[in-house]
Amino acid sequence: MPKVIAITSEKGGVGKSTLAVHLAGAFHERGLNVMLVDEDGRVGSSLRWAQKAGEHGGLGYSVIQPDDVKPRKLADLDVLVIDTEGRPKRKELRQLAGRADLILVPSGTSALELESTRELLDFLRDEGDAMRKTRVALTRVPPVGHAGEDARESLRDEGWTVSNTLVRLYAAYQKAAEAGLLCRDIRDPRADTAWDDILSLSRELL
Ligand SMILES: Nc1ncnc2c1ncn2[C@@H]1O[C@H](COP(=O)(O)OP(=O)(O)O)[C@@H](O)[C@H]1O
Ligand SMILES: [Mg+2]
Repeated sequence: MPKVIAITSEKGGVGKSTLAVHLAGAFHERGLNVMLVDEDGRVGSSLRWAQKAGEHGGLGYSVIQPDDVKPRKLADLDVLVIDTEGRPKRKELRQLAGRADLILVPSGTSALELESTRELLDFLRDEGDAMRKTRVALTRVPPVGHAGEDARESLRDEGWTVSNTLVRLYAAYQKAAEAGLLCRDIRDPRADTAWDDILSLSRELL
């Protein structure tokens, strides 16, 4: 069975779909057999991204709806990435924690964003072995200054596992979403730097 990585967050707009699409792309580039399940389905989600991508050859891996997850399809996968909607109900979160091997919680670095991330983490702390499976990935990190390092350190001080890689804030990701591409394939001065962040995070996860 594949390693199941579920990406979830307390709020919308933190960068879940961006991370899901790009991490799956990084696993694919590294030669792993990967699929992405879109459990959100709204505008801007990974399924829409893949539809746009289809107009110019696709993302290289499949993005599917929850209904299309079949044991046959999972059999020879290395990794299954799940993109979810923001504001999950506690019951949904509990189920997600049950079926995932890794719960990846993207978070911005501002005080407000960290506050809502902590709300989600506090729930996971009390939820069976969910804490062991949980990893925070700081994203949309300002490339200048120390906000990312500071947030990483304070979350670690509280006992959380936080990825070393800081996914920095670059316009290449927005351009990638608009074009239905990966930032790697965008014409932008920071495209390669952005992609390096993603590759580095992917190596920390698998
Ligand atoms: N690392 C990043 N740098 C710059 N913009 C980002 C980054 N990650 C996400 N974004 C932008 O933030 C917005 C929300 O991202 P999205 O992935 O749709 O969040 P979610 O799926 O959590 O709602 C989008 O406009 C996206 O392009
Ligand atoms: Mg989304």
